[in-house]
Amino acid sequence: MPSLAVVGAQWGDEGKGKIVDYFAEEAHMVVRFQGGNNAGHTVKVGREVFKLHLLPSGILRRGRLSVIGNGVVIDPGVLMEELDGLEARGMSVKNLRISDRAHVIMPYHRMLDGAEERLRKGAKVGTTGRGIGPAYSDKAARLGVRMHELVDPDALQDKLSFLVPLKQRILDAYGDGTRLDLESILKEYSGYGRRLKGFVTDTGAVVSSALMKGKRVLFEGAQGTLLDVDHGTYPFVTSSTCVASNAASGSGVAPNMIDEVYGVTKAYTTRVGEGPFPTELKDETGGALAQRGGEFGTTTGRARRCGWLDLVLVKHSCVLSGFTGLALTKIDVLGGLDELKVCTHYRLDGRRVDRVPADLSVLGMCEPQYAELPGWSDIEPSTMERILSEGYGALPAEMKGYIKFVEKQMGVPVVVLGLGPGREETVDRRKRKWRPRRG
Ligand code: GDP
Ligand code: IMO
Ligand code: MG
Repeated sequence: MPSLAVVGAQWGDEGKGKIVDYFAEEAHMVVRFQGGNNAGHTVKVGREVFKLHLLPSGILRRGRLSVIGNGVVIDPGVLMEELDGLEARGMSVKNLRISDRAHVIMPYHRMLDGAEERLRKGAKVGTTGRGIGPAYSDKAARLGVRMHELVDPDALQDKLSFLVPLKQRILDAYGDGTRLDLESILKEYSGYGRRLKGFVTDTGAVVSSALMKGKRVLFEGAQGTLLDVDHGTYPFVTSSTCVASNAASGSGVAPNMIDEVYGVTKAYTTRVGEGPFPTELKDETGGALAQRGGEFGTTTGRARRCGWLDLVLVKHSCVLSGFTGLALTKIDVLGGLDELKVCTHYRLDGRRVDRVPADLSVLGMCEPQYAELPGWSDIEPSTMERILSEGYGALPAEMKGYIKFVEKQMGVPVVVLGLGPGREETVDRRKRKWRPRRG
């Protein structure tokens, strides 16, 4: 029963899509287990670029089963657009399965997301505006619509006939002038239900049974640990659990079914939206990282804030998810900088701080302490070709030094290295491909 979970170790956008696409070659099945279309996973295959929001990145590999698990919140209109978009590009989507327990993002969730952000005034979270928070709130409040209801017109009518007036009262109380029209929502959403019905099933059974049969299952995380609703920089977080334990619960399998966990981290740090960011660089170097790394959000197009690699954050992620390996991405972006800095710990009032404090005002006061490492020049195309054919040994000595430093600090091996957005721009350091299940 070999399985691997790939999760974000920072504030999202670490390059999970690319890494999942890379490992999907060895997998039978790829499962998304949390988040919704707040995620934007970019995968570059040859000259083609795919931006996936809800579909697992495995959808780009022919013959793999793609599963949207129970822990995901689904905007059916966005999902249909994604499916249609892929089909228009000649890809098959027939191997998709959608959990009957996954919750549906309704139009009022998007409206409430916007209205709540407006009402927060100076305390905005900076959400993606996709209705993620309100959909997860309704799930916890037992006011959600699940996929099995979306595909059942009578059940949908029953549910919406009390939910729509209830949500209207909330929108009115918020001073949002929108009028919700039950009939048109029902018409639109039962249409989605008809189109998606064939994909909807008990995916927990599908994934468990695949694992029991020894199939290789890859779990694809969205967002990252610092956006986790419990362990992230609350309240500047998303509304789901982004750590590896949710790969089990969000897919409907037991936790001991997850064998390996790879944490994906950029070789520097970025974040979109609000909230403290101790190693943020508001200077030319930060601008250079943003420029070279193309740091603009896949989902919203917003500029990402950039800073040095913060290992306090990545260690926090490692403790929570139990990384058995690290995927270090975008190390190419650091090329051309004379000196590099890596934050190993913080200092506050003369004391050493190694944990991410719960109180953001305390995090905001923490002073990052840096190790300084030598940089390397930009990698020329001919050197890159050599690296991609010969592997790790052909990397510049300073880059190897940077990687070794990260490994030593983390106590976890860097198993895969990203040197560019393309599928092939990857250095794989695993001794064996996809390890079998322990014990
Ligand atoms: P995700 O949300 O974690 O999947 O990450 P995103 O796709 O939102 O953002 C990562 C961006 O970096 C995308 O544009 C990727 O194509 C790109 N990318 C991924 N890995 C690498 C890498 O190793 N080097 C470079 N230069 N770009 C990368
Ligand atoms: P991927 O999977 C980066 C951020 C938003 C905002 C906060 C809450 O591509 O790594 P939400 O809409 O979820 O309520 O917004 O979370 N956010 C992300 N940032 N990558 C993501 O996903 C994100 N998903 C949400 O910018 O700060
Ligand atoms: Mg992203």
